[in-house]
Amino acid sequence: MKKVLLAGCVMFAASLSASPFEKPEDAIEYRQAAFTMIATNFGDLAEMVKGRKDWDQQTFSQRAQFISQLTYMPEEAFKVEGTDKGQTKAKPEIWSDWEGFSAKLDKFQGDMANLAKVSLEGDERATKRAFGEAAKNCKSCHSDYKYR
Ligand code: HEC
Repeated sequence: MKKVLLAGCVMFAASLSASPFEKPEDAIEYRQAAFTMIATNFGDLAEMVKGRKDWDQQTFSQRAQFISQLTYMPEEAFKVEGTDKGQTKAKPEIWSDWEGFSAKLDKFQGDMANLAKVSLEGDERATKRAFGEAAKNCKSCHSDYKYR
């Protein structure tokens, strides 16, 4: 009996050892924090695109670089076992359809990398067009993989 228990512990430790998280809750908080930062930066871009804030290509581009980097961060936290439960809005479909979720994540990363690149080139109209494409990703993923 003791042996079985110990083996269970070792397996659990092994599944987390490749990641920087000590427990599933840490991974959930981490990915939510990444999305919070994505949303704050993206919200500011939206204000500029809608004309509620003065257009500032340099600030826009800086935020787009931040977001692009941030899009790579949530993935490893979704791979941590046990993060389908607790204080999370992640739907079980993320794990039952990992391929589909992963494809949405790839597209998100690609569109944000493109926005970062285009905005750096300095053309306002092209930047706005790239923003429009990138903006579709949020709803597209949330409607399938996140509880409201
Ligand atoms: C590939 C899928 C995917 C994409 C793309 C995506 N999200 Fe999310 N987002 C999620 C999932 C899943 C959660 C729930 C995470 C959790 O609670 O564990 C989430 C959570 C959030 C949260 C809540 C964070 C918190 O503190 O609980 C915000 C805000 C958010 N996303 C904003 C955005 C915005 C803005 C975009 C687009 C710029 C975006 N997301 C793109 C999947 C995605």
